[in-house]
Order: sequence, then C-alpha cells, then structure tokens
Amino acid sequence: MTVSIATPSAQPLHAEPRPTTFPLDQWYVAALGWELKDKPIGRTLLNKSVVLFRTADGQVAALENRCCHRALPLSDGTLEPRGIRCGYHGLLFDGQGKCIEIPGQDKIPSKALVPAWHVRERDRIVWMWFGSEAHPEPTHEPPTYEFHSNGEYVYDGDVYHYDAPWQLIHDNLMDLSHLGYVHLRTIGGNASIHMNAQMKVEQEGDTVRVIRHMPGSEPPPTYVAAYPFKGKADRWQQIEFMVNHLRIWTGAVDAGTDSLDDPSRGGFHMRGFHGITPETETTCHYFWSIATNPQQDHEAVKAKVVEQTAMTFEEDKVVIESQYRNLCQFGERSMIDIHVDAGANRARRVIQRLCQAPG
Ligand code: FES
Ligand SMILES: [Fe+2]
Repeated sequence: MTVSIATPSAQPLHAEPRPTTFPLDQWYVAALGWELKDKPIGRTLLNKSVVLFRTADGQVAALENRCCHRALPLSDGTLEPRGIRCGYHGLLFDGQGKCIEIPGQDKIPSKALVPAWHVRERDRIVWMWFGSEAHPEPTHEPPTYEFHSNGEYVYDGDVYHYDAPWQLIHDNLMDLSHLGYVHLRTIGGNASIHMNAQMKVEQEGDTVRVIRHMPGSEPPPTYVAAYPFKGKADRWQQIEFMVNHLRIWTGAVDAGTDSLDDPSRGGFHMRGFHGITPETETTCHYFWSIATNPQQDHEAVKAKVVEQTAMTFEEDKVVIESQYRNLCQFGERSMIDIHVDAGANRARRVIQRLCQAPG
C-alpha cells in the first residue's frame, strides 16, 4: 500500500539524503559501550537517522530509525529479548533489521525489513561503518583502544552534542595552545608556557601527530588534585589525529626527573579518547573518555580527573559554539594562520583529500 503523507520539507518520504562531505570509508564512533543499556538510542550520524541498541546476547545493533510499517522512529520503541518492538503497532525486529513478529498476523511479508549497518564494539567503543558506493562492506576492522581494557588505567567518559561542525573540534584538539586562555580553572596554567611550548608536527599517511613539551611548568589545578607533585613539573602533550578519532596523551613528571622522550616515563598521565562524529554538516557528536593511572585512591582520583575533564570540555564547547555562531554571522571571510595552527591545518588537508578521493 502506498501512503501519501505531506512532510514539512515536501521531500518524498523515501528521498535519498543529501550528499555528504565526509570521508565515508571509515568506521565512526556511534556510541560508548556503556550508553547502551535497556533502552534504544536514536541518533543522527553522517545525516543518517540510526537507532542503536543492545540485543539479549550483548551484541550491538544499528538500524535505520524508521519502522517499515508506518515510519515511527524505532527509538520510540522498547527492547525485548528477541529485539526491538515498535512503539506504534508492535512489529518486532531483530538485530539485523528483520521483522520477526507482527501482532495478530501470522504471515510476515518478505519486505518487512529495516536497513541495518555494520557495527562493532571494541574496547567499549561502538563503531559504525557507513561506506561509499565502492565499499559498502568494511575494508578493515575498527581500531582497538587498549586504555579501556589493559587494567593499568581507570577511566570514564561521556558524549556531548555540539552545534558546530566536527572540524572545529579537530582544530581545537590539535592546537592545545588554548589551554592557558580557556582552561585556567583546570588543566591550563601559564598562557605563555603553552604558547611557547616546544612543538613538533609529524605525519604518517592519514595520521597527524603534534608533540609539545613544556618543561618547568607550574602544575595546573587538575594535576595537583590528582598527583603529589613536589614543585615544578615537566609537561607533555601528544596529540594523534586520525579521521575518525583523536588520541591525546598528556601528563607531567616532577621537573628534571624522567625524560619526556622516554615512552615509559612515570608521573601523572591522562589518556584521552576523542571520537568526533559528524551529525550533519553543521553539528556533531563528541564521544570522549579520559583514562588515568592513580598511584593511590584509585576511585577518588578517577572521579576528580573525570570531573575536571568534563569541566574542561564544557569550557571548550562554549568557545567553539560561540566561534561557530560568529563564523556564520560573518560568513566567508579570510582568517590568518599563526604558528600553533600547523597540526590542525594538516588534519584539515587529510579530510579534504579523503573527501575528494573517496574509496
Ligand atoms: S509504525 Fe511501527 S508497527 Fe506501525
Ligand atoms: Fe580545550
């Protein structure tokens, strides 16, 4: 039966979404594993409306968020041991999107199907493959993230929604010189130390790394709260950009003790996971976790580091959304580059190249 319904956009109900400007042959973060409990989550990712849920065997499913009967979002439904039940007329779908029950009707039409995406959960991060026309099937496995599973670190995290395009978050994370201005209450410290950090930018394929060393720094409030520094500290920031996420390793040792080039250096460590996934061209989701290595009082130190990190990211959100509002207000105007932009600009070039040459 054909159902004709006027929609606000006057688009046909089955219209293809607009073409996107995102690299498609990538795994993107769709959720943090601990978000998926007893309720489905509706989320738009790369302009696609998706419902995510965990099936009874613990697997994660990602289906189009539209019931194939009368189009209610499946995220308005409920989870059952065999799948997700639509909240309108009760059709039940399994994790592959196949309708397995129609209340009051024995025969299930073969077309009673909801499209499903490839989804994988690794180290408590849920990844989804969108795929180009050339590669609808995944060409590789999603990344592992050892700091969620190696037992040396304690961690927690959250997801923030941003009214700003994803690349503004990349810019922010690739250039941590802003710490001395934006994050004075938490991980900041002296602005001139951040602006004058010894900085190295490296690139290997589509991975861009920014390494910054700040010897002889005053440890900032978050560090002092989490670790017994004796006085000044030698700080480092190591930022690794990949198209679908960033890994940021920051920390400090007591000044003049371990070398900042020693990969097994001691001191206070924070390992940040930052999964930035476009929602639309102008909005995005920011999935983050922070892992740390307390010497003692594990739970109390973790709680402190997570709380301070959340405060830090809220500070970033205020700045980035304000920046984006102004970019919209002033329109296409040229901007100048300064020395701290080298890493962010390289990351932008990686995305630009992947968008031009998909597949
Ligand atoms: S709209 Fe889903 S069962 Fe009718
Ligand atoms: Fe920041």
